[in-house]
Amino acid sequence: CGIVGYVGAAQATPFLIEGLTKLEYRGYDSAGIAVFDGEKINVEKSVGRLNALEEKIKNNLPTGTVGIGHTRWATHGRPSDRNSHPHTDCTGDFVVVHNGIIENYLHLKEDLIEKGHVFTSETDTEVVAHLMEELYDGNFEETVRKVLKKIEGSYSLVFMSRHDSDRLICTKQDNPLVIGLGEGENFIASDIPAIIARTRKTYIVSDGEIAVVKSDSVWITNREGVPITKKVFEVNWDAEAAEKGGYEHFMIKEIYEQSKAVRETMSARIAKDDSAIVMDELKWNKEFLNSIRKIFIVACGTAYHAGFVGKYYIEKLARIPVEVDIASEFRYRSPIIDDRTLTIVISQSGETSDTLAALKEAKRLGSKTLAVTNVVGSSIAREADQVVYTWAGPEIAVASTKAYTTQLIMMFMLSLYMSEIKKTIEKDYTKHLIGALRQVPSQIHEILEDVEPIKTFAQKYGFNEDVFFIGRSLDYAVALEGSLKLKEISYIHAEAYAAGELKHGTLALIIEGVPVIALATQESVYEKTLSNIKEVKARDAVVIGIALANDDQIEKYVDHIIKVPTTDELLAPLLAVVPLQLLAYYAAITRGCDVDKPRNLAKSVTVE
Ligand code: G6P
Repeated sequence: CGIVGYVGAAQATPFLIEGLTKLEYRGYDSAGIAVFDGEKINVEKSVGRLNALEEKIKNNLPTGTVGIGHTRWATHGRPSDRNSHPHTDCTGDFVVVHNGIIENYLHLKEDLIEKGHVFTSETDTEVVAHLMEELYDGNFEETVRKVLKKIEGSYSLVFMSRHDSDRLICTKQDNPLVIGLGEGENFIASDIPAIIARTRKTYIVSDGEIAVVKSDSVWITNREGVPITKKVFEVNWDAEAAEKGGYEHFMIKEIYEQSKAVRETMSARIAKDDSAIVMDELKWNKEFLNSIRKIFIVACGTAYHAGFVGKYYIEKLARIPVEVDIASEFRYRSPIIDDRTLTIVISQSGETSDTLAALKEAKRLGSKTLAVTNVVGSSIAREADQVVYTWAGPEIAVASTKAYTTQLIMMFMLSLYMSEIKKTIEKDYTKHLIGALRQVPSQIHEILEDVEPIKTFAQKYGFNEDVFFIGRSLDYAVALEGSLKLKEISYIHAEAYAAGELKHGTLALIIEGVPVIALATQESVYEKTLSNIKEVKARDAVVIGIALANDDQIEKYVDHIIKVPTTDELLAPLLAVVPLQLLAYYAAITRGCDVDKPRNLAKSVTVE
C-alpha cells in the first residue's frame, strides 16, 4: 500500500492526490483521503484505481490544510469502499492510514467488540482507529504510544485526531516511511516518489520512531519518548529512480524485498509457541483431508514451478498423492477428477486466463478448489472455493521473484498444516521445521548482503549461448525456475534437467566450456548429485555449484561455488533460488536487456 500525509498552509487534497498518484505502483485496488475541515475530519474513499476517487470528489474537493491518504493493495478484506483506507473509530475523531499487517488484529477486534465498538470493515487496520478511541486520555501522542504497545506486526501508520488537528503522528515498523521537509509545510509518505516534486529534504523514519509532524516542526522520539535528532537526507534521485526505491530496476528491488515478503506471508500464520501452522482461512479437519484422495496443483510459468516444490512438500509431509500440471494442458486433457480431488491453483496475479479456465474445469468436474494468490479479490480468488493469500505486495517486474518465494512459503505452510491435521509427522519434526522456517527471512537477507561474486559470474558467463541447470529432488524444481529466469530476461538458452536424467540425452550437449549450474542442497540425494557433477566435469563443462554453507566437499568437484546459509533441505529452495534470480538479473544487465519488460512477455497473461 501507499500512504501520504500533509500539514501546512496550503490545501491538503491536491498534494494527497498527487502523492497517491506517484504511489499507485504500491497498490491500486482502492484509494481514500481524510481532510480536517476546521470542525471535523471528512473521509472520502472509493474502490478501484485512484481516478475513481478523483472522479468521486472532483466537484466537491475536501477542504482543509491537514490530511492523509492511502492507496491500497488488499490483504485483509477484499477491495471495496468499506475496506478502503482511511479508517475511523466510532466517533470519527480518530483516523488512520496503514501499510502492513496487524498480526494480532482478530484478538484485538474481539476485545473491542466486547467493549461496544462497532466495526464497519473487514480490515486489520480498523482496530488501530478503535484502539485510539478506547485508549485516548487527552494526550494524542501518549495514546499513540499506548496503541503501539498493543499491536503486533508490520506497519507504517499515520494518525490524525480531531482533538489535535494541527498535527499528524506517524510511526513505522518494518515498512517504509519518510517525512518530507518543506517551508511552512511538511509531508509524510511511504515512499520518496510521493514527495519528490515538493521537497528533496527528508527524514527517513526508522523502526520504532514516532514523529509528531506540524506545519513548522517535526518532533521525533523513540517508543519510550526519548527525543531523537535525525539527519536530513537529501534525495538526489530522479523521479523514475525514486519509484524503484533507488534500485535500477523493479526486478532487483523485488529480489531485495523477498525477506520481508516471506516474513509477512508466514508470520501471522505461525502459532506463538512455534508448535503449529494456523490457517484461519481454511479451518480444515481430519474428515475433510481424509476424503481427499488426490491433489492437483495447476498453474503457469513461475507459479507452476512453485507447484513442483509444493508437490514434494505435500507428498513428504502430508502423504497425499499430488500431480502438478500446466494449466493450458490440464484444461484440455480430461483429467480424472471427482469430489475426492482437491485442485490447488497458484497464481500471483489471480488473473491468468489458462489458470482461471483450469480452475473452472476442475470445479465443473466436481473437485474441491483452493487458490493461492497474491491479489485479493482477483478473478481466481473469487472463483475458488477457498483462498489463501501470499502477502508479497505488488510485483511489477515481468520476471516473478518475490511472488515465487512467497508461494513456496505458502505451499510449505499448507503442507505442514495438513500434516498436523492428518498426524502424518511427529510433533518434534514440526517444531524443527517451523524453527527452520523462522530463519528463512534473515537467511535470504544474508544472501543479498554479498552479491558481488554472483555479479562476477554473470559478467563472465553472460555471453554464453547455452546454460544448463541440474539438480535432484527439490534442487530439480529450483533448477526449473532458475532456467526460466535466465531465459526470460537475458534471452540465454537455458535448460533444466533432473541430474539423473542427463545421461539419457542431454549429456550429448555438454562440451568444453558449457556452463552447468549444479544445485546440491539436498542431503538425501547429495552423493548422487555429486556423481552427476563429476559426469559433466569429465566432459569439461564449467560447473558452478550451489550448496549449503556447511558443505565442505563440493569445492573439490566444481569450478566455482555459491553457498547459501545452512537450512533444512526442505527449505533450501527458498535460499537456492535467490542466487539464480541474481544470476539471471546480472546476466541480463551484462547483455543490455530490458530487465523489467522482456521482449514478447507480459506480467499477466489474460488471453489464451
Ligand atoms: C506470465 C508471467 C510469469 C508468471 C506467469 C503466471 O507468464 O510473465 O512471471 O509466472 O504469467 O502468472 P500468475 O499471475 O498466474 O502467477
